[in-house]
Amino acid sequence: MIRFIDFSRKYKRYRKQINSSVERVFRRAWFIAGPERADFEKNFGKYLGARYVIGVNSGTDSIAISLKAIGIKPGDEVITTSHTATPTVSAIRIAGAIPVFVDIDENTLNINPALIEKNINSKTRAILPVHLYGYPAGMAVIKGIAVKNRLFIIEDACQAHGASFKGKKLGTIGDVGCFSFYPTKNLGAFGDAGAIVTNDKNIAENARLIRNFGEVSRYKNQIEGVNSGMDEIQAAFLNWELNELNKWNRERAKIADIYLRELKNLPLKLPPLGNKASNRVWHLFVIQAEKRDALREFLKERGIETLVHYPTPIFKQEAYKFLGYKERDLPVTIKIHDRILSLPIYPGLNIHEVKFICNSIKEFYGIV
Ligand SMILES: Cc1ncc(COP(=O)(O)O)c(C=O)c1O
Repeated sequence: MIRFIDFSRKYKRYRKQINSSVERVFRRAWFIAGPERADFEKNFGKYLGARYVIGVNSGTDSIAISLKAIGIKPGDEVITTSHTATPTVSAIRIAGAIPVFVDIDENTLNINPALIEKNINSKTRAILPVHLYGYPAGMAVIKGIAVKNRLFIIEDACQAHGASFKGKKLGTIGDVGCFSFYPTKNLGAFGDAGAIVTNDKNIAENARLIRNFGEVSRYKNQIEGVNSGMDEIQAAFLNWELNELNKWNRERAKIADIYLRELKNLPLKLPPLGNKASNRVWHLFVIQAEKRDALREFLKERGIETLVHYPTPIFKQEAYKFLGYKERDLPVTIKIHDRILSLPIYPGLNIHEVKFICNSIKEFYGIV
């Protein structure tokens, strides 16, 4: 059985670091807003080349708090895509704003920058590109549009730790970058955690206040806020994990190289490689196959677990039908959603397993 992700392998490999992180925090007996979080904020800022990092409870909170920190008000519009993880959109709603869905580019599956401008109106306040699967959104065009129309850019970099665009790490190109350290991520904790990244002092100060009930000093609330701190145990894990991130990204890239080489002559659409400007990381390896469900079933019979990110476009989810989108509004989103299939890719997945997956896919297409 090849699981889509297997945390027990990570625990076996890093048992010493994991156990000593927990022990260090317990010995200190300080669990919230402590030195581990402060260290991680400093270390992650250094890694990304960003001035301010604010550790929060999740990627969802990092987006919602960022939107509040830039002054988003109920009824303001935020441009994003419907082909993303639901939390991108829930976070916009938590902030009280209205998500405006722009269709995606068929090759990158990221927001299609050419379609953004016609969705801008007097209520638009921000563009929220998602660097989906670890591939950079078209930041050069997006930045130009944002400057011209005086909009904020909030990057959802929850799937793109370590990727860069024109030499700048994703999450540091817009006004704010948002990260998740959900266990499956390239930099994944062992629980929920997230971070807000910015070079803007005012935004950083607002975000720091909002994550802690708007408290400027003990029991003195200046603005309305929430309770969303990164806890000490997660921060302790992330402090040593950050030193492994580049290595883990290279391990993921090695797996991607095998997939790309072995699957290249099959009737599949393979994910974009990246180039000098768009230096991607591999969070997910997403192929597009016409007989997706049959292929998935075939792989399952061989003990290979795959997933679909994401099976239902958000605008079609019951919860978001009120936004009023029709299939014809987002044709590419509709076209790809029953073709996409995520193959296993994570540090610890071995080469034999990857080759077995490739051979099984070849077998499905009758090429062995
Ligand atoms: C693109 C994207 N945005 C936001 C999130 C939300 O992160 P979290 O699960 O940490 O709240 C995730 C991860 O789940 C994600 O993949």
